[in-house]
Amino acid sequence: MIALGCDHGGYELMQEVKAYLDSKGLEYKDFGCHSTEAVDYPVYARKVGNAVLDGSCDKGILICGTGIGISIAANKMPGIRAALCSDCFSAEATRLHNDANILAMGGRVVGPGLAVKIVETFLNTPFSGEERHQRRIRLIEEL
Ligand code: RB5
Repeated sequence: MIALGCDHGGYELMQEVKAYLDSKGLEYKDFGCHSTEAVDYPVYARKVGNAVLDGSCDKGILICGTGIGISIAANKMPGIRAALCSDCFSAEATRLHNDANILAMGGRVVGPGLAVKIVETFLNTPFSGEERHQRRIRLIEEL
């Protein structure tokens, strides 16, 4: 189960992401927003972060205009590792190395074709599980 959240700046791209997930039969919970009317992105970051932390969703996808504000907000939550990605290399690396549990993107930054490839890469790449990466992830929480 994938938790989805966006603000007005990410709303249109999120519709493309949902169409992709539908086409693959992937289940999601849509925490809004539900239109291009202006809203506050921290609200949606929090809803998606909570869904990932309480285990009701395995991963999350957050989109605001730049992806910056919504990822900053999500990363305030202990246990959330939200990775802002505009390319597939980063989406793959953040799963392999950081075990990122939320993908953030900018609706005004990436086009729909690239965004879908980024989502696909993020969802299909497992965490490497390598000891050095596990140690570094632990240190994110401990330091
Ligand atoms: C909203 O206009 C915009 O500030 C927001 O979508 C995002 O880009 C913030 O980081």
